[in-house]
Amino acid sequence: MHFHVITFGCQMNVGDSDWLTRSLVAMGYTPAPEHEADIFIVNTCSVREKPELKVYSVLGRLSEHARTRPDMFIAVGGCVAQQVGPKLWERFPRVRLVFGTDGLAAAPRAIQRLTAEPRLRISLLDFTETYPERDPAWPESTVPAQAFVTIMQGCDNFCAYCIVPYVRGRQKSRQSADVLAECRELAARGAKEITLLGQNVNSYGLDASGDGTSFAALLSQVAAIDGIKRLRFTTSHPKDLSPEVIAAFADLPALCPWLHLPLQAGSDAVLSRMGRKYDAAGYLRLVENLRKARPDISLSTDLIVGFPGETDEDFQKTLDMVARVGFESGYSFMYCDRPGVAAQRLEPKIPLDIKAERLSRLLALVDDLQAKALAARTGTRTEVLVEGPSRRPKPGAPSWRGRDPGGRVVDFEYPGLDDPTGTFVTVEVLEAKKHSLRGKAV
Ligand code: SAM
Ligand code: SF4
Ligand code: F3S
Repeated sequence: MHFHVITFGCQMNVGDSDWLTRSLVAMGYTPAPEHEADIFIVNTCSVREKPELKVYSVLGRLSEHARTRPDMFIAVGGCVAQQVGPKLWERFPRVRLVFGTDGLAAAPRAIQRLTAEPRLRISLLDFTETYPERDPAWPESTVPAQAFVTIMQGCDNFCAYCIVPYVRGRQKSRQSADVLAECRELAARGAKEITLLGQNVNSYGLDASGDGTSFAALLSQVAAIDGIKRLRFTTSHPKDLSPEVIAAFADLPALCPWLHLPLQAGSDAVLSRMGRKYDAAGYLRLVENLRKARPDISLSTDLIVGFPGETDEDFQKTLDMVARVGFESGYSFMYCDRPGVAAQRLEPKIPLDIKAERLSRLLALVDDLQAKALAARTGTRTEVLVEGPSRRPKPGAPSWRGRDPGGRVVDFEYPGLDDPTGTFVTVEVLEAKKHSLRGKAV
């Protein structure tokens, strides 16, 4: 049977979909484009309203395939599945499986049962007490040079705007021995860069599922694995970024000079109402210490505009903080109410036109900072881990795309006829584009 996976949401969902794909392949199923598939898996995100609505439109479109493929069915996983549950199959009868993150490990077997029992429907929505370890399901083939390894699930922070703790459950750290075993296996199969994933990696090991290994200790253990040339991690909560993790940026050469450190807002009053448990001064101290440890560190962030009660002065403080920190990139969002979160009850809500106006001013500032940071790279040399062919090739010249240690996208001309994907290439930066660099291999 042929299956097709559609993934929304964060890197953790991408990692979950990759695992599900590998497991189904190991069980004899074949990945296929949408028009050839009988089984559809939609891995969903409910962090904002837009991705949730997108899920419903995709489920509507996929349900249409039932006209030509009578046996087709849909499995819905991830955060919308957890949030909406079996109501999904009331609205879309072709949905026959709903599973949350903790149900993922059992999803391949459930899909197998559904193919054998056409009247069956399965719901896998229970949260587990400990990290649900999965069979890694490695196929024979090699792995990409950049690999992602999940080190924890869930979140205990309950930031006032955020649905994640409700749909991903309580924080559960994975055993460090299992994390290290997966990293070693990936390195042995050709991975050169590993990104450790979790909603809040800085508090790794601090929950009941932890085995006493701190996040800083885990970082040095992963960095010590033969073949791991680059190490990254995401996402970090500023309140839990420990001095030991900051020191790791100075001590571990494999740890890339890149950190995504969500600020959310620059006003202390807004940060307090968001329940973020740090203030602007505390955030600036972290930035100072990070730059002391690693002067070339590139910082990126998440920002929310229009949180309930945000005044013009509050918003101005966000702009001031963004400029002062000098983020190299940022993801900016308009606040939107999510079902059941604390901020749903906070007033006054900010009208859409004001949110949109603030968002466009913030986007312009972030773009400007990024352009300046990229322009400062021209004339330098950098090492690029090649991801594949450039998406915007220059006519006549073979060109490739990858990332430098700071996470910047670099397109470059490469004279050789061989495919450099998965290797490190030294590149001279010749030009800065709006969101990327351009150069040539030296
Ligand atoms: N765990 C990460 C953290 O603590 O920053 C990421 C959380 S979420 C998956 C990614 C981003 O979505 C958040 O950092 C926040 O900026 C944004 N976000 C979450 N809930 C939101 C909401 N209700 N409205 C707008 N943006 C939201
Ligand atoms: Fe959401 Fe806050 Fe947890 Fe991040 S730390 S996932 S923003 S509740
Ligand atoms: Fe979205 Fe769930 Fe990730 S809400 S951002 S897919 S944790």
